[in-house]
Amino acid sequence: MKLLHVVGARPNFPKLAPVHRAAAAVGLTQCIVHTGQHYDDELSAGFFRELDIPTPDINLAVGSGSHAQQTARVMERIEPVLIGERPDWVVVYGDVNSTLAAAVVASKLGVPLAHVEAGLRSHDRTMPEEINRLVTDRLADLLLTPSRDADDALRSEGEPDEEIVFIGNVMVDTLLHCLPAARRSGFAERVGAGASAVIVTLHRPTNVDDPARLAAITTALRDIARDRPVIFPAHPRTAERLAESGLDLGGVRILPPAAYLDMINLISGAHAVITDSGGIQEETTVLGVPCLTLRENTERPITLSQGTNQLVPDPTCLASIVRSLRRPGERLQPEGWDGRAGERAVQALLQPRAGSGSSRRVSA
Ligand code: UD1
Repeated sequence: MKLLHVVGARPNFPKLAPVHRAAAAVGLTQCIVHTGQHYDDELSAGFFRELDIPTPDINLAVGSGSHAQQTARVMERIEPVLIGERPDWVVVYGDVNSTLAAAVVASKLGVPLAHVEAGLRSHDRTMPEEINRLVTDRLADLLLTPSRDADDALRSEGEPDEEIVFIGNVMVDTLLHCLPAARRSGFAERVGAGASAVIVTLHRPTNVDDPARLAAITTALRDIARDRPVIFPAHPRTAERLAESGLDLGGVRILPPAAYLDMINLISGAHAVITDSGGIQEETTVLGVPCLTLRENTERPITLSQGTNQLVPDPTCLASIVRSLRRPGERLQPEGWDGRAGERAVQALLQPRAGSGSSRRVSA
């Protein structure tokens, strides 16, 4: 059996690592296609090195652009790859533009498509990721879900039971695998973040592209930084918006995007994390670190019901919430967030399925 994995942006890479490792352990042939959506070392190659993922076999080098441009470039460049490679499965991850683009092309070529992290829903179609999730799940033949709410969402949208397989959370596989090395990284100490520190990551257009909202967030962070270290590893688009805005950041420390192990080191010892990232809502849940998500909704409701996450749509509330936060004592661990999700994904891919395989393949 041959798997062709398609990844492109930072959050895809920790999801690929455990599936790739589990597939290698049972001797499957694998091909990694990197679309090139992310290309800076801190957002891409650094993850491959730290997570021990082989260098991609193919890089489509699509780069940045509008959503339509980026999606179209991936579609155009991946079509001949899928025709040439003829995999048994195309495996796509998460909800980025590369995921959507590969899903559309694989599906039209009749190549069986598996989606890792299927079924997450924010029910907010102003988020580009929600559109990517909905379309990818509609097209996928195998829906590998991280939580039971995702199974329910897929069933309620009419997906057949036999396509839905609960595997648990592959990001958590990577987190648990890397935690000992992350604890040794020493990054938090090097950047002056102690147990009272607040770590910030923001990159969603709704937070960083609206100047009034960015100003309100900055005011709140400046306020928090009067009492404690506020460390902000900034995504390139966020760094650009902050520089353009000329906003006064006070004591807030802006850093370049942190490497994976450094980021886990930073958040695992922090007082709290302020974020709009999906993955960090999950990582803080496992690490037991309070997480304030600067959004009105989340596609990961399990981090609210069983984790440490809370939604804070209004940035003016941030400073008072941060002051009152306490680390939780006893915690629940969501089902399947146990370090074995990659293995369960590979077991599901190996199961014979009605309608999959060469009988579904059309013009490839
Ligand atoms: C993308 C994903 C988002 C994910 C995020 C993680 C989509 C729709 N969005 O958002 O879901 O949470 O990645 O980081 O797929 N840039 C660089 N260097 C890079 C890549 C990008 O400087 O290596 C800059 C460019 O100015 C680019 C901007 O960041 O225009 C946005 O990059 P893009 O990949 O389009 O979206 P992200 O905001 O990173």
